[in-house]
Amino acid sequence: MDKVILTGDRPTGRLHIGHYVGSLRSRVELQNKGDYDKFYIMIADVQALTDNWDNPEKVRQNIIEVALDYLSVGIDPSKVTIFVQSGVKGLFELTCFYMDVVTLARVQRNPTIKSELKMRGFGESIPCGFLTYPISQAADITGFDATIIPVGDDQLPMIEQAREIVRSINGIYGETLYEPEAVLPENDACRRLPGIDGNAKMSKSLGNCIYLSDDEETVNKKVMSMYTDPDHIRVEDPGKVEGNMVFTYLDCFCKEDSFERFLPEFKDLDELKAAYKKGGLGDVKIKRFLAAILNDELAPVREKRKYYEEHINEVFDILKKGTEDASKHCDEVVNRLRKNMKIDYFDNKEIISKYEGV
Ligand code: TRP
Repeated sequence: MDKVILTGDRPTGRLHIGHYVGSLRSRVELQNKGDYDKFYIMIADVQALTDNWDNPEKVRQNIIEVALDYLSVGIDPSKVTIFVQSGVKGLFELTCFYMDVVTLARVQRNPTIKSELKMRGFGESIPCGFLTYPISQAADITGFDATIIPVGDDQLPMIEQAREIVRSINGIYGETLYEPEAVLPENDACRRLPGIDGNAKMSKSLGNCIYLSDDEETVNKKVMSMYTDPDHIRVEDPGKVEGNMVFTYLDCFCKEDSFERFLPEFKDLDELKAAYKKGGLGDVKIKRFLAAILNDELAPVREKRKYYEEHINEVFDILKKGTEDASKHCDEVVNRLRKNMKIDYFDNKEIISKYEGV
């Protein structure tokens, strides 16, 4: 069995540093380790349309934005196939067949769907496509024989759903699909980076994101506006580290040499936290430190982004070629399933064989 990695994102906005620490960074590491046969990254525009059907322009714009984000963090198109979901027609076919083996009750039980439905306030008017997107996502995964799915923990119910579909399909039609497994980010502090305002979710609609494409000045401004400890009023006051966004972000972004380079008067994060708790350490100082670390991390990202923005035709060709490659692989899976379902009527004459010679 080949080792196939697949993951993806909805193109509903530019990617932010929460995406970066939660998934993009580890994708680049995986890519550079090279321990795989195929590595796919999907821009999930069909899924994005399930709750943006009335705004296809937004999805369209963000296909290029997300591709730029991928390339600028160091995803290498010679090692990873980046593709656009809607261009792989086999996925629609798989989704359709998988629908038959999933009950409505099962999709309604999906915890991610439940909370998303509440959040979007569809009320009684839930689009069928939205409710069933976990089934389409099972197609995304199995359509390329992917078994390793690096995702955030909010996606675990999707992977579980995909595994169930694989078992059902294989149980009914014989061994056809591979069971995928989720791979979660290693660093716990990074699994879900909160917004700069302290809200548990970093999201475009809350306006609390730092984007990968933000310039230095914007990052500085955003860090300075970050939620810290509201009771830490004077520098001498003892401060709280828990729930203080600057420390939450430092837990995630601080590297071994960060102190030496940007704040040499402290040895490490433990020492900095102790000083803050004790009192005598001001917010501006820790914010400047965080901003320096973030800007250092983002500098090469900005540089690559600039290159690709200036060579946008390259980006277009990468997506086009990636989508063609992905389509070929998906067609193989579709044909396998059709054969095992015995609906490959026109590939052989079995359908009429019992009449022949009558
Ligand atoms: N649902 C994922 C998200 O919102 C995006 C996605 C679509 C995906 N298809 C996928 C992720 C397949 C992993 C595998 O982030």
